[in-house]
Amino acid sequence: MADVKAILAGKYPAKAHARRVVEWMRAKNPGVSGVLYLEGQKTRMIEDNDETQPFRQRRFFYYLTGCALPDSYFTYDIDNDKSTLFIPPIEPESVIWSGLPLSVDEALSLYDVDQVLTTDQVASTIAHPHSSSAVWAIANQVSDHITFLEFNEKDFSLLKLAIEECRVIKDEYEVALTRHANDISTIAHTAVLKAVKHAKNERELEAIFIAKSISHGAREQAYHSIVASGTAAATLHYLKNSEPLTGKLNLLLDAGAEYDCYASDITRTFPINGRFSSESRAIYDIVLQMQNVCTNMLKEGVIWDAVHLTAHEIAIEGLLKLGILQGDKEDILKTRTSVAFFPHGLGHYLGMDTHDTGGHPNYEDKDSIFRYLRVRGPLPAGAIITVEPGIYFCRFIIEPYLTDPVHAAYINFDVLNKFWEVGGVRIEDNILITKDGYENLTTAVKDVTKMEELINGS
Ligand code: GLY
Ligand code: MN
Ligand code: MN
Repeated sequence: MADVKAILAGKYPAKAHARRVVEWMRAKNPGVSGVLYLEGQKTRMIEDNDETQPFRQRRFFYYLTGCALPDSYFTYDIDNDKSTLFIPPIEPESVIWSGLPLSVDEALSLYDVDQVLTTDQVASTIAHPHSSSAVWAIANQVSDHITFLEFNEKDFSLLKLAIEECRVIKDEYEVALTRHANDISTIAHTAVLKAVKHAKNERELEAIFIAKSISHGAREQAYHSIVASGTAAATLHYLKNSEPLTGKLNLLLDAGAEYDCYASDITRTFPINGRFSSESRAIYDIVLQMQNVCTNMLKEGVIWDAVHLTAHEIAIEGLLKLGILQGDKEDILKTRTSVAFFPHGLGHYLGMDTHDTGGHPNYEDKDSIFRYLRVRGPLPAGAIITVEPGIYFCRFIIEPYLTDPVHAAYINFDVLNKFWEVGGVRIEDNILITKDGYENLTTAVKDVTKMEELINGS
Protein backbone atom coordinates (compact mmCIF):
# COMPACT_ATOMS: atom_id res chain seq x y z
CA MET A 1 0.00 0.00 0.00
CA ALA A 2 1.37 3.38 -1.00
CA ASP A 3 2.51 5.71 1.79
CA VAL A 4 0.02 8.53 1.32
CA LYS A 5 1.72 10.85 3.78
CA ALA A 6 5.14 10.53 2.15
CA ILE A 7 3.71 11.09 -1.33
CA LEU A 8 1.67 14.11 -0.30
CA ALA A 9 4.73 15.63 1.40
CA GLY A 10 6.01 16.30 -2.12
CA LYS A 11 4.61 18.74 -4.66
CA TYR A 12 1.54 18.24 -6.81
CA PRO A 13 3.10 17.18 -10.17
CA ALA A 14 1.99 20.18 -12.19
CA LYS A 15 5.00 20.26 -14.51
CA ALA A 16 4.55 16.62 -15.48
CA HIS A 17 0.91 17.41 -16.21
CA ALA A 18 1.91 20.29 -18.51
CA ARG A 19 4.26 17.99 -20.42
CA ARG A 20 1.63 15.27 -20.69
CA VAL A 21 -0.94 17.71 -21.99
CA VAL A 22 1.45 18.92 -24.70
CA GLU A 23 2.29 15.33 -25.61
CA TRP A 24 -1.43 14.63 -26.01
CA MET A 25 -1.90 17.77 -28.12
CA ARG A 26 1.05 16.86 -30.32
CA ALA A 27 -0.39 13.41 -30.93
CA LYS A 28 -3.40 15.21 -32.44
CA ASN A 29 -1.43 18.01 -34.06
CA PRO A 30 2.35 17.47 -34.35
CA GLY A 31 2.87 21.17 -35.03
CA VAL A 32 1.84 22.26 -31.55
CA SER A 33 4.29 24.81 -30.12
CA GLY A 34 4.08 28.23 -28.49
CA VAL A 35 2.35 28.95 -25.20
CA LEU A 36 -0.33 27.29 -23.09
CA TYR A 37 -2.35 29.95 -21.30
CA LEU A 38 -4.75 29.44 -18.39
CA GLU A 39 -6.55 31.62 -15.90
CA GLY A 40 -7.63 30.54 -12.44
CA GLN A 41 -11.12 31.26 -11.16
CA LYS A 42 -11.75 34.90 -10.27
CA THR A 43 -12.92 36.18 -6.92
CA ARG A 44 -16.63 36.81 -7.39
CA MET A 45 -18.85 38.87 -5.18
CA ILE A 46 -22.31 37.88 -4.00
CA GLU A 47 -24.85 39.98 -5.86
CA ASP A 48 -25.74 43.22 -4.00
CA ASN A 49 -23.41 42.29 -1.18
CA ASP A 50 -19.81 42.93 -0.11
CA GLU A 51 -19.02 39.27 0.64
CA THR A 52 -17.30 36.91 -1.78
CA GLN A 53 -18.99 33.83 -3.22
CA PRO A 54 -17.60 30.46 -2.08
CA PHE A 55 -14.45 29.89 -4.12
CA ARG A 56 -13.82 26.83 -6.25
CA GLN A 57 -10.65 26.70 -8.33
CA ARG A 58 -10.95 25.94 -12.03
CA ARG A 59 -9.93 22.35 -12.48
CA PHE A 60 -8.08 22.96 -15.76
CA PHE A 61 -5.94 25.54 -13.98
CA TYR A 62 -5.32 23.37 -10.95
CA TYR A 63 -4.20 20.46 -13.13
CA LEU A 64 -1.29 22.48 -14.53
CA THR A 65 -0.41 24.42 -11.37
CA GLY A 66 -1.57 22.66 -8.19
CA CYS A 67 -2.47 26.19 -7.10
CA ALA A 68 -5.85 26.95 -5.54
CA LEU A 69 -5.35 30.72 -5.26
CA PRO A 70 -8.08 32.90 -6.81
CA ASP A 71 -7.22 35.43 -9.52
CA SER A 72 -4.06 33.65 -10.65
CA TYR A 73 -2.71 33.01 -14.16
CA PHE A 74 -0.44 30.46 -15.78
CA THR A 75 1.66 30.14 -18.91
CA TYR A 76 3.69 27.26 -20.20
CA ASP A 77 6.28 28.04 -22.84
CA ILE A 78 6.21 24.77 -24.74
CA ASP A 79 9.44 25.18 -26.68
CA ASN A 80 11.49 26.09 -23.62
CA ASP A 81 9.61 23.75 -21.25
CA LYS A 82 9.12 26.65 -18.84
CA SER A 83 6.07 27.14 -16.66
CA THR A 84 5.14 30.42 -14.99
CA LEU A 85 2.56 31.00 -12.29
CA PHE A 86 1.28 34.52 -11.74
CA ILE A 87 -0.14 35.19 -8.28
CA PRO A 88 -1.92 38.32 -6.99
CA PRO A 89 0.49 40.99 -5.74
CA ILE A 90 0.25 42.55 -2.29
CA GLU A 91 -2.55 45.09 -2.15
CA PRO A 92 -2.15 47.15 1.02
CA GLU A 93 -5.89 47.81 1.17
CA SER A 94 -6.76 44.13 1.36
CA VAL A 95 -3.96 43.27 3.81
CA ILE A 96 -5.93 45.23 6.42
CA TRP A 97 -8.77 42.72 6.12
CA SER A 98 -7.20 39.51 4.90
CA GLY A 99 -3.58 39.60 6.03
CA LEU A 100 -0.57 39.18 3.78
CA PRO A 101 -1.10 37.06 0.66
CA LEU A 102 1.23 34.24 -0.35
CA SER A 103 4.59 35.66 -1.41
CA VAL A 104 6.40 34.84 -4.65
CA ASP A 105 9.06 32.90 -2.75
CA GLU A 106 6.48 30.94 -0.80
CA ALA A 107 4.63 30.12 -4.01
CA LEU A 108 7.83 28.94 -5.64
CA SER A 109 8.48 26.53 -2.81
CA LEU A 110 4.86 25.29 -2.73
CA TYR A 111 4.09 24.75 -6.42
CA ASP A 112 5.78 22.70 -9.12
CA VAL A 113 6.41 25.60 -11.54
CA ASP A 114 9.64 27.08 -12.88
CA GLN A 115 8.90 30.70 -12.17
CA VAL A 116 6.47 32.76 -10.08
CA LEU A 117 5.58 36.33 -11.01
CA THR A 118 2.71 38.59 -10.01
CA THR A 119 -0.45 39.06 -12.02
CA ASP A 120 0.41 42.63 -13.02
CA GLN A 121 3.13 41.05 -15.18
CA VAL A 122 0.92 38.71 -17.22
CA ALA A 123 0.29 40.94 -20.24
CA SER A 124 3.89 42.10 -20.55
CA THR A 125 5.22 38.57 -20.14
CA ILE A 126 3.13 37.05 -22.91
CA ALA A 127 3.97 40.02 -25.17
CA HIS A 128 7.68 39.26 -24.78
CA PRO A 129 9.41 39.29 -28.20
CA HIS A 130 10.51 35.68 -27.71
CA SER A 131 6.93 34.54 -27.42
CA SER A 132 6.21 31.95 -30.02
CA SER A 133 3.50 32.52 -32.58
CA ALA A 134 0.78 30.24 -31.21
CA VAL A 135 -1.24 30.44 -28.02
CA TRP A 136 -3.49 27.68 -26.69
CA ALA A 137 -6.21 28.77 -24.27
CA ILE A 138 -9.74 27.85 -23.19
CA ALA A 139 -12.76 29.60 -24.72
CA ASN A 140 -14.52 32.00 -22.34
CA GLN A 141 -11.72 31.69 -19.81
CA VAL A 142 -9.58 34.60 -21.04
CA SER A 143 -9.90 38.05 -19.43
CA ASP A 144 -10.76 41.08 -21.56
CA HIS A 145 -7.41 42.73 -20.95
CA ILE A 146 -5.57 39.76 -22.43
CA THR A 147 -5.71 40.31 -26.20
CA PHE A 148 -3.21 37.78 -27.60
CA LEU A 149 -2.49 40.41 -30.31
CA GLU A 150 1.12 39.31 -30.52
CA PHE A 151 0.22 35.75 -31.49
CA ASN A 152 -0.33 34.70 -35.12
CA GLU A 153 -2.33 31.67 -34.15
CA LYS A 154 -4.86 31.31 -31.33
CA ASP A 155 -6.66 28.07 -30.50
CA PHE A 156 -9.44 27.87 -27.93
CA SER A 157 -10.44 24.21 -28.09
CA LEU A 158 -7.52 21.75 -28.14
CA LEU A 159 -6.11 22.62 -24.70
CA LYS A 160 -9.38 21.95 -22.90
CA LEU A 161 -9.89 18.66 -24.68
CA ALA A 162 -6.31 17.64 -23.94
CA ILE A 163 -6.63 18.33 -20.22
CA GLU A 164 -9.99 16.54 -20.08
CA GLU A 165 -8.46 13.43 -21.61
CA CYS A 166 -5.21 13.55 -19.61
CA ARG A 167 -7.13 13.85 -16.35
CA VAL A 168 -8.55 10.33 -16.78
CA ILE A 169 -5.24 8.64 -15.93
CA LYS A 170 -4.09 9.53 -12.45
CA ASP A 171 -0.49 9.60 -11.28
CA GLU A 172 0.72 8.46 -7.89
CA TYR A 173 0.12 11.88 -6.31
CA GLU A 174 -3.47 12.12 -7.54
CA VAL A 175 -4.19 8.59 -6.32
CA ALA A 176 -2.77 9.57 -2.91
CA LEU A 177 -5.06 12.63 -2.80
CA THR A 178 -8.08 10.48 -3.66
CA ARG A 179 -7.06 7.91 -1.09
CA HIS A 180 -6.73 10.60 1.55
CA ALA A 181 -10.14 12.06 0.67
CA ASN A 182 -11.51 8.52 1.01
CA ASP A 183 -9.86 8.03 4.40
CA ILE A 184 -11.43 11.22 5.72
CA SER A 185 -14.82 10.26 4.30
CA THR A 186 -14.56 6.85 5.92
CA ILE A 187 -14.12 8.49 9.33
CA ALA A 188 -17.16 10.66 8.60
CA HIS A 189 -19.28 7.74 7.33
CA THR A 190 -18.40 5.74 10.45
CA ALA A 191 -19.43 8.63 12.67
CA VAL A 192 -22.83 8.75 10.94
CA LEU A 193 -23.30 4.99 11.40
CA LYS A 194 -22.61 5.40 15.12
CA ALA A 195 -25.11 8.26 15.40
CA VAL A 196 -27.99 7.13 13.19
CA LYS A 197 -29.89 5.07 15.75
CA HIS A 198 -30.43 8.03 18.08
CA ALA A 199 -30.66 10.85 15.54
CA LYS A 200 -34.04 12.43 14.91
CA ASN A 201 -33.57 14.12 11.56
CA GLU A 202 -31.49 13.69 8.38
CA ARG A 203 -29.91 17.10 8.94
CA GLU A 204 -28.17 15.97 12.15
CA LEU A 205 -26.39 13.28 10.15
CA GLU A 206 -25.36 15.68 7.40
CA ALA A 207 -23.92 17.94 10.10
CA ILE A 208 -21.92 15.07 11.59
CA PHE A 209 -20.50 14.13 8.18
CA ILE A 210 -19.41 17.67 7.41
CA ALA A 211 -18.05 18.33 10.90
CA LYS A 212 -15.92 15.17 10.80
CA SER A 213 -14.65 16.01 7.30
CA ILE A 214 -13.58 19.49 8.29
CA SER A 215 -12.00 18.45 11.54
CA HIS A 216 -9.91 15.87 9.65
CA GLY A 217 -8.65 18.40 7.11
CA ALA A 218 -11.25 18.40 4.34
CA ARG A 219 -12.96 21.76 4.38
CA GLU A 220 -14.90 21.16 1.17
CA GLN A 221 -17.34 18.44 0.21
CA ALA A 222 -16.96 16.96 -3.26
CA TYR A 223 -20.72 17.36 -3.80
CA HIS A 224 -23.90 18.07 -1.89
CA SER A 225 -24.37 15.14 0.53
CA ILE A 226 -27.37 12.88 -0.01
CA VAL A 227 -28.80 11.95 3.39
CA ALA A 228 -31.97 10.14 2.41
CA SER A 229 -34.16 8.23 4.84
CA GLY A 230 -36.90 5.77 3.98
CA THR A 231 -38.48 6.19 0.55
CA ALA A 232 -36.42 9.35 -0.11
CA ALA A 233 -33.54 6.99 -0.93
CA ALA A 234 -35.32 6.26 -4.21
CA THR A 235 -34.54 9.81 -5.33
CA LEU A 236 -31.08 9.46 -6.83
CA HIS A 237 -29.84 12.96 -6.05
CA TYR A 238 -32.11 13.78 -3.09
CA LEU A 239 -31.42 17.33 -1.90
CA LYS A 240 -33.62 18.04 1.12
CA ASN A 241 -31.69 16.32 3.93
CA SER A 242 -34.21 17.67 6.40
CA GLU A 243 -36.78 14.95 6.98
CA PRO A 244 -37.43 13.16 10.31
CA LEU A 245 -36.07 9.63 10.69
CA THR A 246 -38.87 8.26 12.85
CA GLY A 247 -40.64 5.28 11.36
CA LYS A 248 -38.22 4.94 8.42
CA LEU A 249 -36.39 1.70 7.61
CA ASN A 250 -33.07 2.69 6.04
CA LEU A 251 -30.72 5.56 5.50
CA LEU A 252 -28.88 6.04 2.23
CA LEU A 253 -25.82 8.21 2.80
CA ASP A 254 -24.01 9.31 -0.36
CA ALA A 255 -21.32 11.69 0.84
CA GLY A 256 -17.69 12.38 0.04
CA ALA A 257 -15.13 14.83 1.29
CA GLU A 258 -12.85 16.70 -1.09
CA TYR A 259 -9.15 17.01 -0.31
CA ASP A 260 -6.95 19.51 -2.16
CA CYS A 261 -9.46 19.60 -5.04
CA TYR A 262 -9.72 15.79 -5.27
CA ALA A 263 -13.06 14.09 -4.67
CA SER A 264 -14.22 11.00 -2.90
CA ASP A 265 -17.71 9.67 -3.63
CA ILE A 266 -19.01 7.00 -1.26
CA THR A 267 -22.47 5.57 -0.67
CA ARG A 268 -23.60 3.30 2.13
CA THR A 269 -27.13 2.16 2.95
CA PHE A 270 -27.98 0.85 6.40
CA PRO A 271 -30.89 0.22 8.79
CA ILE A 272 -31.74 3.17 11.02
CA ASN A 273 -32.73 0.94 13.95
CA GLY A 274 -29.63 -1.24 13.65
CA ARG A 275 -31.27 -4.33 12.11
CA PHE A 276 -32.17 -4.73 8.41
CA SER A 277 -35.76 -5.85 7.73
CA SER A 278 -35.86 -9.05 5.69
CA GLU A 279 -36.91 -7.13 2.55
CA SER A 280 -34.16 -4.55 3.00
CA ARG A 281 -31.57 -7.24 3.63
CA ALA A 282 -32.61 -9.15 0.53
CA ILE A 283 -32.19 -6.06 -1.64
CA TYR A 284 -28.92 -5.11 0.08
CA ASP A 285 -27.48 -8.56 -0.64
CA ILE A 286 -28.33 -8.28 -4.33
CA VAL A 287 -26.73 -4.84 -4.63
CA LEU A 288 -23.63 -6.00 -2.76
CA GLN A 289 -23.35 -8.94 -5.11
CA MET A 290 -23.72 -6.61 -8.11
CA GLN A 291 -20.89 -4.51 -6.71
CA ASN A 292 -18.61 -7.43 -5.83
CA VAL A 293 -18.98 -9.22 -9.15
CA CYS A 294 -18.58 -6.02 -11.19
CA THR A 295 -15.55 -4.86 -9.20
CA ASN A 296 -13.89 -8.24 -9.64
CA MET A 297 -14.20 -7.89 -13.42
CA LEU A 298 -12.12 -4.70 -13.44
CA LYS A 299 -8.68 -4.32 -14.98
CA GLU A 300 -7.08 -2.35 -17.78
CA GLY A 301 -8.98 -2.68 -21.05
CA VAL A 302 -12.27 -3.99 -19.62
CA ILE A 303 -15.27 -2.54 -21.45
CA TRP A 304 -17.31 -0.56 -18.93
CA ASP A 305 -20.53 -1.10 -20.90
CA ALA A 306 -20.12 -4.86 -20.39
CA VAL A 307 -19.57 -4.44 -16.65
CA HIS A 308 -22.73 -2.34 -16.45
CA LEU A 309 -24.68 -5.06 -18.29
CA THR A 310 -23.36 -7.63 -15.82
CA ALA A 311 -24.74 -5.52 -12.97
CA HIS A 312 -28.15 -5.65 -14.63
CA GLU A 313 -27.91 -9.42 -15.09
CA ILE A 314 -27.22 -9.91 -11.39
CA ALA A 315 -30.03 -7.51 -10.48
CA ILE A 316 -32.42 -9.49 -12.68
CA GLU A 317 -31.34 -12.84 -11.20
CA GLY A 318 -31.79 -11.46 -7.67
CA LEU A 319 -35.16 -9.86 -8.35
CA LEU A 320 -36.34 -13.08 -10.05
CA LYS A 321 -35.37 -15.04 -6.95
CA LEU A 322 -37.34 -12.64 -4.76
CA GLY A 323 -40.33 -12.86 -7.11
CA ILE A 324 -40.42 -9.12 -7.88
CA LEU A 325 -39.55 -10.01 -11.46
CA GLN A 326 -41.01 -13.04 -13.25
CA GLY A 327 -40.25 -14.72 -16.58
CA ASP A 328 -37.08 -15.39 -18.50
CA LYS A 329 -33.86 -13.62 -17.51
CA GLU A 330 -32.72 -13.04 -21.10
CA ASP A 331 -36.12 -11.67 -22.13
CA ILE A 332 -36.11 -9.27 -19.19
CA LEU A 333 -32.64 -8.04 -20.09
CA LYS A 334 -33.71 -7.59 -23.72
CA THR A 335 -36.81 -5.56 -22.87
CA ARG A 336 -34.72 -3.44 -20.45
CA THR A 337 -37.31 -3.93 -17.68
CA SER A 338 -34.58 -3.92 -15.01
CA VAL A 339 -33.93 -0.24 -15.83
CA ALA A 340 -37.10 0.44 -13.78
CA PHE A 341 -35.18 -0.64 -10.67
CA PHE A 342 -31.62 0.38 -11.65
CA PRO A 343 -32.08 3.49 -13.78
CA HIS A 344 -28.61 5.04 -13.58
CA GLY A 345 -25.17 4.04 -14.80
CA LEU A 346 -22.86 1.76 -12.83
CA GLY A 347 -20.37 4.55 -12.20
CA HIS A 348 -18.26 7.42 -13.45
CA TYR A 349 -14.67 8.59 -13.48
CA LEU A 350 -13.65 10.33 -10.29
CA GLY A 351 -11.00 13.01 -9.90
CA MET A 352 -11.06 16.75 -9.39
CA ASP A 353 -14.72 16.62 -10.38
CA THR A 354 -17.01 14.04 -8.84
CA HIS A 355 -18.31 13.21 -12.30
CA ASP A 356 -14.89 13.57 -13.86
CA THR A 357 -13.90 14.27 -17.43
CA GLY A 358 -13.10 11.90 -20.28
CA GLY A 359 -15.92 9.36 -19.92
CA HIS A 360 -17.52 10.00 -23.34
CA PRO A 361 -21.13 9.36 -22.30
CA ASN A 362 -23.95 9.32 -24.83
CA TYR A 363 -26.98 10.83 -23.11
CA GLU A 364 -28.90 10.52 -26.41
CA ASP A 365 -28.44 6.76 -26.54
CA LYS A 366 -31.69 5.17 -27.74
CA ASP A 367 -30.96 2.14 -25.57
CA SER A 368 -32.28 3.06 -22.11
CA ILE A 369 -29.87 0.75 -20.33
CA PHE A 370 -26.83 2.78 -21.48
CA ARG A 371 -28.31 6.29 -21.59
CA TYR A 372 -26.99 7.42 -18.23
CA LEU A 373 -23.74 5.50 -18.33
CA ARG A 374 -21.16 8.25 -17.79
CA VAL A 375 -18.24 6.17 -19.04
CA ARG A 376 -18.30 4.20 -22.28
CA GLY A 377 -15.70 1.84 -23.72
CA PRO A 378 -12.42 0.42 -22.35
CA LEU A 379 -10.97 1.48 -19.00
CA PRO A 380 -7.31 2.53 -18.96
CA ALA A 381 -4.93 1.63 -16.13
CA GLY A 382 -4.63 4.60 -13.79
CA ALA A 383 -8.28 5.63 -14.09
CA ILE A 384 -10.33 5.93 -10.91
CA ILE A 385 -13.94 4.92 -11.37
CA THR A 386 -16.87 4.57 -8.99
CA VAL A 387 -18.70 1.26 -8.82
CA GLU A 388 -22.13 2.17 -7.53
CA PRO A 389 -24.91 -0.27 -8.34
CA GLY A 390 -28.32 0.34 -6.86
CA ILE A 391 -31.86 -1.01 -6.70
CA TYR A 392 -34.60 1.54 -6.05
CA PHE A 393 -38.32 1.47 -5.45
CA CYS A 394 -39.30 4.81 -6.93
CA ARG A 395 -43.00 5.05 -7.78
CA PHE A 396 -42.42 7.84 -10.29
CA ILE A 397 -40.01 5.65 -12.26
CA ILE A 398 -41.62 2.22 -11.79
CA GLU A 399 -45.32 3.05 -12.25
CA PRO A 400 -45.05 3.75 -16.00
CA TYR A 401 -43.49 0.27 -16.37
CA LEU A 402 -46.50 -1.23 -14.58
CA THR A 403 -48.89 0.20 -17.15
CA ASP A 404 -46.76 -0.76 -20.16
CA PRO A 405 -47.71 -4.31 -21.21
CA VAL A 406 -44.20 -5.06 -22.53
CA HIS A 407 -42.72 -4.56 -19.05
CA ALA A 408 -45.71 -5.27 -16.80
CA ALA A 409 -45.69 -8.95 -17.77
CA TYR A 410 -42.31 -9.33 -16.06
CA ILE A 411 -43.23 -7.59 -12.79
CA ASN A 412 -45.18 -9.23 -9.98
CA PHE A 413 -47.21 -6.38 -8.43
CA ASP A 414 -48.09 -8.26 -5.24
CA VAL A 415 -44.48 -9.03 -4.40
CA LEU A 416 -43.33 -5.56 -5.44
CA ASN A 417 -45.85 -4.03 -3.02
CA LYS A 418 -43.88 -5.44 -0.07
CA PHE A 419 -40.75 -3.49 -1.04
CA TRP A 420 -41.72 0.18 -1.40
CA GLU A 421 -40.61 1.02 2.13
CA VAL A 422 -37.09 -0.24 1.42
CA GLY A 423 -36.72 2.99 -0.58
CA GLY A 424 -33.46 2.36 -2.35
CA VAL A 425 -30.12 0.70 -1.78
CA ARG A 426 -26.91 1.94 -3.35
CA ILE A 427 -23.37 0.91 -2.45
CA GLU A 428 -20.56 2.98 -3.93
CA ASP A 429 -16.78 2.56 -3.79
CA ASN A 430 -13.92 4.30 -5.60
CA ILE A 431 -11.77 1.92 -7.61
CA LEU A 432 -8.32 2.42 -9.12
CA ILE A 433 -7.88 0.46 -12.36
CA THR A 434 -4.51 -1.28 -12.70
CA LYS A 435 -2.82 -3.33 -15.42
CA ASP A 436 -3.82 -6.65 -13.86
CA GLY A 437 -6.82 -5.73 -11.79
CA TYR A 438 -7.91 -2.99 -9.45
CA GLU A 439 -7.44 -1.46 -6.04
CA ASN A 440 -10.39 -0.41 -3.91
CA LEU A 441 -9.58 2.99 -2.40
CA THR A 442 -12.70 2.96 -0.21
CA THR A 443 -12.51 1.32 3.19
CA ALA A 444 -15.83 2.45 4.70
CA VAL A 445 -17.65 -0.52 6.25
CA LYS A 446 -20.26 -2.25 4.07
CA ASP A 447 -20.43 -5.73 5.61
CA VAL A 448 -23.91 -6.09 7.14
CA THR A 449 -22.80 -7.51 10.50
CA LYS A 450 -20.14 -4.83 10.95
CA MET A 451 -22.53 -2.03 10.00
CA GLU A 452 -25.15 -3.34 12.41
CA GLU A 453 -22.54 -3.59 15.17
CA LEU A 454 -21.48 0.01 14.64
CA ILE A 455 -25.08 1.23 14.66
CA ASN A 456 -25.87 -0.73 17.82
CA GLY A 457 -22.65 0.34 19.54
CA SER A 458 -21.61 -3.26 20.10
N1 GLY B 1 -22.70 11.39 -5.49
C1 GLY B 1 -23.11 11.48 -6.83
C2 GLY B 1 -22.88 10.25 -7.55
O1 GLY B 1 -22.69 9.22 -6.94
O2 GLY B 1 -22.82 10.19 -8.74
MN1 MN C 1 -20.91 8.50 -7.84
MN1 MN D 1 -22.20 9.16 -4.89
